[in-house]
Amino acid sequence: MSAALHGRVALVTGAGSGIGAATAARLTADGAQVYTVDRAGEVGRIADVTAPGISEILVAEAVARLGGLDILVPCAGISAFAPLADHTDEYWDQVLAVNVTAVFRIIRAAVEPLKKSRRGRIITIGSTMSRFGAAGLVAYGTSKHAVLGMTRSIACELGPFGITVNCLQPGAIETPMTAPAFTAMPQFKDYWEHKAALGRLGQPQDIADVIAFLASDDARFMSGQGFFVDGGAMQAQ
Ligand SMILES: NC(=O)c1ccc[n+]([C@@H]2O[C@H](COP(=O)([O-])OP(=O)(O)OC[C@H]3O[C@@H](n4cnc5c(N)ncnc54)[C@H](O)[C@@H]3O)[C@@H](O)[C@H]2O)c1
Repeated sequence: MSAALHGRVALVTGAGSGIGAATAARLTADGAQVYTVDRAGEVGRIADVTAPGISEILVAEAVARLGGLDILVPCAGISAFAPLADHTDEYWDQVLAVNVTAVFRIIRAAVEPLKKSRRGRIITIGSTMSRFGAAGLVAYGTSKHAVLGMTRSIACELGPFGITVNCLQPGAIETPMTAPAFTAMPQFKDYWEHKAALGRLGQPQDIADVIAFLASDDARFMSGQGFFVDGGAMQAQ
């Protein structure tokens, strides 16, 4: 699409599906070399991002194979609808492990190479649920609020090293994550389609294109922010 990211190295987790896959493809199209990670799918590295010590290994591999690290997109995430009473300890721990702890760990592991980059970019994936709540999404909503808070604090700490840290907050996007809910509850799909001012659900490309912008030099003075990319859904009454 452009040469905006020529010479940059990116690491994208959750790159086997949905938003992560579209992001890896878009960053590649913009000239970046992308180290793709997922627990499944067609990626460069199969790994469970919650495994102890894996964050350091993944960052070291990306640096060793691709010569550094400029862009980190920790996109791997999980979600499912469950009433509060069905939020077992195991479910709660699992959601927070993938959506929060693994994000924190890979950012921490990436700090030194991102400092060396001098134009480091971290783009976390929050949600409209980083600001609002929803029945059935207690663990997920908690995790996405945490990601936004984490983003803001890390942005303050890493700004002096030229690293920007922003949180992209998608609305309802058609991916394998949302497919089961949209199939089981067509009214839910309909609700989000019509809630969006643009009158449609989002596609992974809608998110990937904004991530590519945040990773580019054009976004060099933007940091510590959360950005809704939701077709205007959260502005509607
Ligand atoms: N789809 C939406 O409507 C939506 C909205 C807001 C935010 N998000 C966020 O976007 C991100 C991507 O979601 P998506 O919709 O593309 O879903 P998706 O299910 O298509 O992709 C998520 C990917 O993460 C991977 N993953 C999950 N747990 C992992 C683990 N422990 N180790 C390694 N990989 C793991 C999965 O294998 C999958 O490939 C998530 O963080 C999600 O919370 C999605």
